[in-house]
Amino acid sequence: MKTRITELFGIEHPIIQGGMHWVGFAELAAAVSNAGGLGTITGLTQKSPADLANEIAKCRELTNKPFAVNLTFLPTVNAPDYPGYIDAIVKGGVKIVETAGRSPQEYMPALKDAGIKVIHKCTSVRHSLKAQSIGCDAVSVDGFECGGHPGEDDIPNMILLPRAAEELEIPFVASGGMADGRSLVSAMALGAEGMNMGTRFIATKEAPVHENVKQAIVAASELDTRLVMRPLRNTERVLNNAAVERIVEKEKALGDKLTFADIIDEVAGVYPRIMQNGEMDLGAWSCGMVAGLIHDIPSCEDLIERIMKQAEGIIRERLQSML
Ligand SMILES: Cc1cc2nc3c(=O)[nH]c(=O)nc-3n(C[C@H](O)[C@H](O)[C@H](O)COP(=O)(O)O)c2cc1C
Repeated sequence: MKTRITELFGIEHPIIQGGMHWVGFAELAAAVSNAGGLGTITGLTQKSPADLANEIAKCRELTNKPFAVNLTFLPTVNAPDYPGYIDAIVKGGVKIVETAGRSPQEYMPALKDAGIKVIHKCTSVRHSLKAQSIGCDAVSVDGFECGGHPGEDDIPNMILLPRAAEELEIPFVASGGMADGRSLVSAMALGAEGMNMGTRFIATKEAPVHENVKQAIVAASELDTRLVMRPLRNTERVLNNAAVERIVEKEKALGDKLTFADIIDEVAGVYPRIMQNGEMDLGAWSCGMVAGLIHDIPSCEDLIERIMKQAEGIIRERLQSML
C-alpha cells in the first residue's frame, strides 16, 4: 500500500506507533520499524538528552529501518531541556520527529535545518492548520477516542478526519481508536493516508512493559476508560482502576475548585511503577477505548502483517463486491 505517508517517511506500511511515556523504548520502536511500520522512541521518558542519545544508538543497533522520536511539549513551568533533546536527535541521525502537546513552532527551525520531517499530533482542525502553516510535513489527527490527551473539543474521528481532509493540504494519519485492517481502511476512506496507534502497540510481545499492563488491555472493554483532569483543562483518557475512581470522586466533589495538588498522588510519577512493576491500581495511565477491540498479544510483525492482509481483503473483496 503506497500513500503520501509511506512515501514521506520511506516506510513499507502506513502504520505509525505513537510516542508513549514509559512504553516507547528502543525495543518497541525497532520492532515496529522492522515490521515495516514507523516505530517511535518517546523522548521525554529518557531522563536527559544523553540518555536519549543512548536510546537512539540502541535502536539503531536493533533496526536499520527509519524510526522516529516523539517530543511532547508540556505546559510546565520548568520546561525540559528541549534544545538538548533536539541536539541528541540531530546528532543521532534521526530523520523523523513526532511532536505533540503545544505547538512545535519555536523548535521548527532547528528541526528543519537538520533535514528532519515533522509530524505533529493534534486533536483539532485548527491546530492541524496551524501545524501546516509553520511547516510541519504531516499531522496525526487524534480523535476523542484516543488514549492519552484528547484535548477539550470531544470530536470523534468519524467527524474529525473528514473535517481535516476538507481543510488540510499536507498528508495526515488517523490516530485514536485504530486497531486493525478495518480501522486502516475506514481511516483511508475518511481521507487519511495511514494510521497511528498507541494502545494496540502496548499489547504486543515486544512492548517493554509488565505483562499485567498487556493483560489489563486485553481484559478491558470499550466501556472501561474514563476521562480525568477535565477541570484542569488537561483531559486524559485512562483505564479505569481504583486510583482513577478516587480521582473521579474528587472531581465530582470539588468541581472547578480541583487543583493538581488534589490528585497528585494518583497522577504524578506513577508511570514507571505501573509500566515496569505492573502495579496496576497505583495511578492513572493512558489507554484508549480501542482496548475493546484488542483481544490478544501478537508480535509487532504478526500484528502489522495481519492488519495489512485484512485491509487488502476488505478493499478487494468486501467493498469491491458491493459495487
Ligand atoms: C500509555 C500511553 C502513553 C502515552 N504517552 C504519550 C506521550 O508521552 N506523548 C504523546 O505524544 N502521546 C502519548 N500517548 C498517545 C499515543 O501516542 C497515541 O496518540 C494514542 O495512544 C492514540 O490513541 P489509541 O490509544 O486509541 O491508539 C500515549 C498513549 C498511551 C496509551
